[in-house]
Amino acid sequence: MGWHEVLWIGRILVLMQLVHGVVGWGKDGHYAVCKIAEAYLTEDALVTVKELLPDSAGGELASVCSWADDIKWYYKWHWTSPLHYVDTPDFKCNYQYCRDCHDSAGHKDSCVTGAIFNYTKQHFSAYQGYDPQLKYNLTEALMFLAHFVGDVHQPLHVGFTGDLGGNTITVRWYHRKTNLHHVWDTMIIDSAVKTFYGSDLAIMIQTIQRNITDAWSNDISSWEYCEYNQTVCPNLYASESVRLACTFAYRNATPGSTLEDDYFLSRLPIVEKRLAQGGIRLAAVLNRIFASEVKIARA
Ligand SMILES: *[C@@H]1O[C@H](CO)[C@@H](O)[C@H](O)[C@H]1NC(C)=O
Ligand SMILES: *[C@@H]1O[C@H](CO)[C@@H](O)[C@H](O)[C@H]1NC(C)=O
Ligand SMILES: *[C@@H]1O[C@H](CO)[C@@H](O)[C@H](O)[C@H]1NC(C)=O
Ligand SMILES: *[C@@H]1O[C@H](CO)[C@@H](O)[C@H](O)[C@H]1NC(C)=O
Ligand SMILES: [Zn+2]
Repeated sequence: MGWHEVLWIGRILVLMQLVHGVVGWGKDGHYAVCKIAEAYLTEDALVTVKELLPDSAGGELASVCSWADDIKWYYKWHWTSPLHYVDTPDFKCNYQYCRDCHDSAGHKDSCVTGAIFNYTKQHFSAYQGYDPQLKYNLTEALMFLAHFVGDVHQPLHVGFTGDLGGNTITVRWYHRKTNLHHVWDTMIIDSAVKTFYGSDLAIMIQTIQRNITDAWSNDISSWEYCEYNQTVCPNLYASESVRLACTFAYRNATPGSTLEDDYFLSRLPIVEKRLAQGGIRLAAVLNRIFASEVKIARA
């Protein structure tokens, strides 16, 4: 590769960091959410998930959980960019589907919670036999759903409109200049992996999993629960996220501030719990979707 190409790749990488909503959780965050989910899938769900996964996944859901971020760069998929987040009114610290779920051009349902409803419904109608022609590509629907359930648990994916979910808040993460959104997508997880988990993401995931079976074991059923027997309840996840954004992400992270140990150590537990909740809920949704298939088949 010549210098010319290296320069170009460098520019593209910088550009990617500047564009709003580019990432979700970073690759590691999405991998963690899906890895945690895999361990909680029922036998039925696991079989169907494996059938739907592309060959490139090697039978592992976690390996395709960043697919939705990777494809955004292709023209064909530009329309999916607003599906990774939902912006809420500045300083309100609350979220309402009707008020907030639209893209910047005002198209309704074009936001992360709308997308989670959409891709859940596509699976449901397919497996309940409402949609025999299989209008939708269910492999894509699965990869989108797994990704967006992760995104909606990242507090700043339900941040304020005025700062694009923290993207325009320039801060320093220790010595590095970055923005607040990126700190929550990637930096907190990166620093934790390096500082506490011997640079091994798998060890971080195992430590979170140990909490799920131990310290948090009594909370799991409330995390899985959706009112009115809904299959999925992204409005609840988004409301939790914006509250955490106000209480933890935006607090003491004004433009130009330097975020160091105090911020890192107090926010890391929030990040780890959101990764756990994202994983548990993704598994719960997939278990509900793919359990209905079995009922129909046996009926
Ligand atoms: C729902 O999914 C289909 C297929 O990917 C897509 O064409 C449509 O725009 C999606 N709608 C929303 C609100 O995500
Ligand atoms: C479904 O989507 C995947 C991923 O985009 C693609 O590789 C596959 O060819 C699609 N399948 C059909 C039947 O279009
Ligand atoms: C939820 O589902 C359970 C079991 O299928 C049923 O007994 C209960 O009445 C349902 N509740 C609501 C609010 O629909
Ligand atoms: C495990 O749970 C404890 C108690 O809630 C919490 O303080 C700690 O940060 C958690 N650790 C991880 C890795 O999730
Ligand atoms: Zn995303």
